[in-house]
Amino acid sequence: MVPGPTNVPLNIMRAMQKPIINHRGPEFRELYKRLLENLKYAFKTKNDVFPLTCSGTGGVECSIANVISPGDKVVIPINGVFSERMREEIVQFGGAPVEIPVEWGSACSANEIESTVETEKDIKAIALVYNETSTGTTLRDLPEIGKIAKKYDKLLIVDAVSILAGDHLPVDEWNIDICVAGSQKCLACPPGLALVSVSEKAYEVIAKNKHRSPYFDLVKCRESKKNLETPFTPALPLFYALDEALKMLMKEGLENRIHRHRVCAEAFYNAFEAAGLKMLAKEEFRSNTVIAVWKPEKIDEKKFRDLLREKYRVSIAGGMGKLKGHIVRIGSMGIVAQREVLTTVEAMLKALKDLNYEEEINLNEIISKTRGILSKI
Ligand SMILES: Cc1ncc(COP(=O)(O)O)c(C=O)c1O
Repeated sequence: MVPGPTNVPLNIMRAMQKPIINHRGPEFRELYKRLLENLKYAFKTKNDVFPLTCSGTGGVECSIANVISPGDKVVIPINGVFSERMREEIVQFGGAPVEIPVEWGSACSANEIESTVETEKDIKAIALVYNETSTGTTLRDLPEIGKIAKKYDKLLIVDAVSILAGDHLPVDEWNIDICVAGSQKCLACPPGLALVSVSEKAYEVIAKNKHRSPYFDLVKCRESKKNLETPFTPALPLFYALDEALKMLMKEGLENRIHRHRVCAEAFYNAFEAAGLKMLAKEEFRSNTVIAVWKPEKIDEKKFRDLLREKYRVSIAGGMGKLKGHIVRIGSMGIVAQREVLTTVEAMLKALKDLNYEEEINLNEIISKTRGILSKI
C-alpha cells in the first residue's frame, strides 16, 4: 500500500512473459498502434501520448528538456518534494524558475498563478505537480489554471505521475500541453514507463528548441510514430504490461476507476479521523490517491511501519524530505478496493493499539462504517 509501485494484477504480470519481438516489425506496430490509441482514452486527449522507456522522473525530465531553453522563465508552485524536483529539472536545463512557495499540505490557487504571470514578463510556461505525492495534496485549481494558460498563451506542463486514472484529468478540456503520468500508480502496471502527452502548441515550441535532449526528443517520437515505431528500443515486456493495463482500464471505464479511487480515499479519511488521527493535507486539497497522515505524538513512525509490515503484512510509506519521521503515506491506487482498504485500516489501527496509542479506538464501529462507505464502489 505504498504510493507506487502499486499491486499489479496477475494478468498484467503474465502479459510480460510474451516473446520478445522485433520492435521494427509488424507485431510491434500492431501493439504500438493500440497503445497510442488507448493512452488517448486514459488522458482524454486527441494529442499524441507516448509511452517512454523510463520511470516517471524521466517523463518529467523529458517535458522540461524539450520545452526549456537557457534563460526561459517558468512559473512553478512548490508544495512538496516532487515540485522541488521539477524545479531542479528546470534549473538543470538552464531555465529560470519563478517560484510560488506554498505551505506543504496546501496547494496554490489560480489567482496566485495569474498574478505571477501578469507581474513577471516573458513567462514561457507554467509547470506544476497536480498531485504532490509527498504530501497527499491535489491542486484543485488545475482547471482554472488551464484557462489562465490559454488566456495568456503560456505552455502548461503537468506532472500527473501519481494521479492519472485516479482523479479527473481531461487533458484537452483543461488545456494541458504536456502531461506526464507513471505506469506504476493508478494504472496498476509495473514501474518503468512514463506516459507523456504533447499538444500541437507544445510541438511548435519544441521544434524551435535547439537544446533538446537526444534521448528524450519528442520530435523524434513524433517522426517515428509515422512508422508506428519508437526512436529507440522500447522496454517490450512493459509495453505488453501497459497494453493489458489499459485494456483493464477500458473494461472498468475511466470514470468508474476514478469513482473507485474517490470512494477508497473517502473510506480511509473517515476511518483515520474516527480514530483521532490528523491528516496532513487541508480538507479541500486531499488527494484521492495518496493519504498522508501525521504520526501521533507518542508513536515512533519507524516502529509503527515496521510493526505494520512484520506483524500485519501491510507495507506503507513514510514521509519524504522535511516530513521524514513525521507522517506516513498510504498509496490508495491501482487495483485498490474493499479488501485493500479494510485490511489496511484494520492493520493500522491494531498496530496503533499495540503501541499504546493514546486515543480510544472502537475498531468494530470504524470497520463497519468503512464497509458502508466502500459499498458505494
Ligand atoms: C508526483 C510524482 N512525480 C514524479 C515521480 C517520480 O516517478 P519515478 O519514481 O517513477 O521516477 C513520482 C514518484 O512517486 C511522483 O509521485
